[in-house]
Amino acid sequence: MNAAVTPRAYDVARVRADFPILSTTVRGKRLAFLDTAASAQRPLAVIEAVDRYERGSHANVHRGVYELSQKATDAFEGARERVRRFLNAASIKEIVFTRGTTESINLVAQSWGRRLGPGDEILITWMEHHANIVPWQMLCERTGAVLKVAPIDQRGELDIDAFRALLSPRTKLAAFTQVSNALGTVLPIRAMIDAARAVGALTLLDGAQAVAHERVDVRTLGCDFYVFSSHKLYGPTGLGVLWAREAILREMPPWQGGGDMILTVSFAKTTYNELPYRFEAGTPHISGAVGLAAAIDYLEALGIERVHEHEQGLLARASYALRSIPGLRIIGEAKEKIGVVSFMLEGVHPHDLGTILDDEGVAVRAGHHCAMPVMEFFNVPATARASFGCYTDDADLQQLVRALSRALEVFG
Ligand SMILES: Cc1ncc(COP(=O)(O)O)c(C=O)c1O
Repeated sequence: MNAAVTPRAYDVARVRADFPILSTTVRGKRLAFLDTAASAQRPLAVIEAVDRYERGSHANVHRGVYELSQKATDAFEGARERVRRFLNAASIKEIVFTRGTTESINLVAQSWGRRLGPGDEILITWMEHHANIVPWQMLCERTGAVLKVAPIDQRGELDIDAFRALLSPRTKLAAFTQVSNALGTVLPIRAMIDAARAVGALTLLDGAQAVAHERVDVRTLGCDFYVFSSHKLYGPTGLGVLWAREAILREMPPWQGGGDMILTVSFAKTTYNELPYRFEAGTPHISGAVGLAAAIDYLEALGIERVHEHEQGLLARASYALRSIPGLRIIGEAKEKIGVVSFMLEGVHPHDLGTILDDEGVAVRAGHHCAMPVMEFFNVPATARASFGCYTDDADLQQLVRALSRALEVFG
């Protein structure tokens, strides 16, 4: 093969060098950061983009005629365009900045959801994060609509036949996660979207755990809403995205009132701004958007497909190594997963396990992962969860396995 077209091998050591936090130590030990599903670390490119913005471009956006405000507006709107390209959305009118996945879903529930009434149904799955359960429960309480839940099986896979059977002309929305944060399961989203569309339901995809690991193209996916958080994509916290088809956004009433979302205000009548500003009341997270754009550039330069392949290798090796630990049970053995391994160690509460692992410099999440129904389904109070990102390496996995052996010694 011609050297010019030979794909470069994935150099994880080089990637790690881009993340300053990974060279810090914890309790005198090398940091093995295995909690990327909760929040990914930031590469220098993101830290520096935010720093540059703060030092040289900050002012409020959209309102100033002076140069600095124009610069800030250009940076903010440039970030919106970057997100549009990343998702392959048709227009920047379809890209609404929010505070995160949670706020994006609440926006849809409180604005689009107003049209629902008694007899209407919303279908979710048993695998949802609380952010994709509670806003719909609140909506159902307000409107009299009914929340239906599609079951999962012992491997942590969706029962797609049951999902199909729960759809009917009463279903107005099917809202589901692309990837389960608690189990790592990749859901059969294409089949789910097709099935929902066949009964005339809209679909909302929670992409919080997917965007950093798989290429997303909202136009080929065929969903109606897509939501994600910047901080799980190597960008800053406090910022998220709601993508929705322009025709749907046009029909949605504003949900929060204030500055920027209006065209004119008088005490007699207020008229609302164009899309997407109608859904962005108040001063936005400008530096966050700048950071998100830099994070997308960074990930695209690495190549999402290559990152995915790297993480799949880690998943296979981690699952193999963990299965050989006596008394360890992996929760969630779906055929298709991303780099997430949830597990229990017999006789050790996950919180105690998390503490011992922390002593060894290993950062994993221990808890219900904001997915209590999943814990209930598997009849466990909590799990420990190791999750991987573009910078995770085999030394991290080895450190995890060593720390688990130590936990076994401590707890006999
Ligand atoms: C699948 C899923 N949905 C929603 C959320 C909520 O994201 P945020 O807290 O950034 O709003 C998370 C966070 O862990 C998640 O994993």
